[in-house]
Amino acid sequence: MSPEDVVSQDTKDLRIFFGDLRRMTSREVADGEVSLIVSSPPYFNAPFDYPDLFPSYEDYLGLIRSFASQSRRVLGRGRICAIVTDDMLVKEGGDSRGRKYPLVADTTRIFLDEGFLYRDKITWVKPAGYTRISRRSGVVLQHPYPMYFYPDNIQESILLFQNGEFDYGHLKDAPKKILESSKIDTVQLNKERWNLTVWNITNVLPMPGRVEEGIAAFPEEIPRRLIKLFTMVGETVFDPFAGSGTTLKVALELGRKGFGYEIDLELKDILREKLGEENLLIEEREGAKRLRKSLQTKIQRQRSVVR
Ligand SMILES: C[S@@+](CC[C@H](N)C(=O)[O-])C[C@H]1O[C@@H](n2cnc3c(N)ncnc32)[C@H](O)[C@@H]1O
Repeated sequence: MSPEDVVSQDTKDLRIFFGDLRRMTSREVADGEVSLIVSSPPYFNAPFDYPDLFPSYEDYLGLIRSFASQSRRVLGRGRICAIVTDDMLVKEGGDSRGRKYPLVADTTRIFLDEGFLYRDKITWVKPAGYTRISRRSGVVLQHPYPMYFYPDNIQESILLFQNGEFDYGHLKDAPKKILESSKIDTVQLNKERWNLTVWNITNVLPMPGRVEEGIAAFPEEIPRRLIKLFTMVGETVFDPFAGSGTTLKVALELGRKGFGYEIDLELKDILREKLGEENLLIEEREGAKRLRKSLQTKIQRQRSVVR
């Protein structure tokens, strides 16, 4: 590392490493350096986003196991790892109905086996008219008889795991100014119903030409609530599956530092556009790949077959 790199690394609030999370080391993100993780791992072979990205479900679970062990290493004691995920319906071979994979249950099991405490699960509910879902519920309308029921999914889970017990003395020792600026607005919390296990939040709508096209980005409101609820101003938030950089963007807006890991080099320009060059340090590591164009070509091909 050159002396200039050391200087720039210290002065930039956002840092992104392009590489495979499975190979992340403490040279990039040090042990215990992170106060909160907010992330959405790729959805196993999701037809609209990651068709055939993983050779098997077992391979996918291997990535989630690495995610769990890396999270345990980088998170401070008692701090939170928030995971946005959902079970996934994948069409395979000649099976037109598809097979449902239990990502939420398997991710939970893996994080508990890694030693995390299970703090909570929030259900993120999207608007009922959300246009991107496949309309499976039409089947029972065409065949109004038992066994034809397939509901349309408008929710995802936000799993909250905790890295051991938190020492609340840590808050008492914080400088008064930091504590005051990190105070939670309980009027807003009550008004917007953050206090419940169900959060109604509009998803990122699939508008043509948006910067997050084809990335399965989550809405800014999810990291905004989580960062306010679980970190102090000046602390570091990490997204190991950074995508378009939603978590990092919100972290910066809220006066926190943001680290990200992302495998797909083709997201570099999108991240620069969304986060602003001046705040961002980008480094490449072994294992980075070029994925976006080839995934989008596959999705287009699938769509033209369906039509
Ligand atoms: C669901 S998207 C995250 C979207 C992000 N939350 C946003 O709002 O833009 C998952 C991301 O994980 C990345 N990814 C997949 N495998 C990875 C790996 N092994 N290491 C790091 N990133 C990976 C994908 O390229 C994709 O950008």
